[in-house]
Amino acid sequence: MNTPNATDLIRDRYGVDTFNPDSLWNETLATLLSHRSVRAYLPNPLLPQTLELMVAAAQSAATSSNLQTWSVVAVEDPARKETLAQLAGNQAHIRQCPLFLVWLADLARLHHLAMQRGLPAQGLDYLEMFVTATIDAALAAQNATIAAESLGLGTVYIGGMRNHPQSVAEALKLPPHLFAVFGLCVGYPDPAKPAAVKPRLPQAAVLHRETYNLTQQEEAIAQYNEIMQKFYESQQMNVAGDWVEHSVKRVTTAQALSGRERLKEMLQKLGFPLL
Ligand SMILES: Cc1cc2nc3c(=O)[nH]c(=O)nc-3n(C[C@H](O)[C@H](O)[C@H](O)COP(=O)(O)O)c2cc1C
Repeated sequence: MNTPNATDLIRDRYGVDTFNPDSLWNETLATLLSHRSVRAYLPNPLLPQTLELMVAAAQSAATSSNLQTWSVVAVEDPARKETLAQLAGNQAHIRQCPLFLVWLADLARLHHLAMQRGLPAQGLDYLEMFVTATIDAALAAQNATIAAESLGLGTVYIGGMRNHPQSVAEALKLPPHLFAVFGLCVGYPDPAKPAAVKPRLPQAAVLHRETYNLTQQEEAIAQYNEIMQKFYESQQMNVAGDWVEHSVKRVTTAQALSGRERLKEMLQKLGFPLL
């Protein structure tokens, strides 16, 4: 298969022509820039060893102090996927995908090891270790995602796993000190419902040189609003208002977090004191 053209993929990523990487281009970059979330899957099972390769890619990510404070639960059982789909706000793609991965911030393993050695594990009670485990899980999951996409598979992350953390923990039989950070649907994309590359903010908004500048981003954001307006129209997406309005509405009130505003309390019940 030919490596997709850099100019085309960079144009898709920003919705306009920006820069041309000339000779700095390879298949890895093409895989990264081709990412799009997939929410429609064929029923085809994954090829043997796909899951193991994805996990090997995940384990190849950097991990804070080599503590490896993450784990993943692979769910293929239709009944368990159905339960998780409902807990995540009834997301149909969780039912449809052949493989659903739940990525865990895992302080249970370290806690268990400390207990076995008869040592205290006070550090695990601190917010720092929760953040560490969440970062570890995210880096691992993203490596697995890229591995899957390089094999022609589609994926979509599922933050809806955090809507009801305790029920998710029950469904997966998680002991204390484990938290489902997000899910990931994996499967072969349904070619009848292709997903488009979604443009991102111009680099002028996210790339700062030497020091950060908030107000200088305004022009870039105005430009992005226009690009996204065209994207929503081309994809026949019914989005009220522009990207800024859509994004700001997600944080206007605590209730807009759809239950996740109680996350701290939920985490404390799951064995993360967050000191
Ligand atoms: C942590 C995280 C949680 C997400 N949760 C969901 C979700 O619950 N349902 C869903 O359909 N998409 C979810 N997404 C996908 C985002 O909506 C998507 O990545 C974003 O709109 C950008 O589109 P793209 O991935 O196609 O480029 C999530 C993405 C991330 C990174």
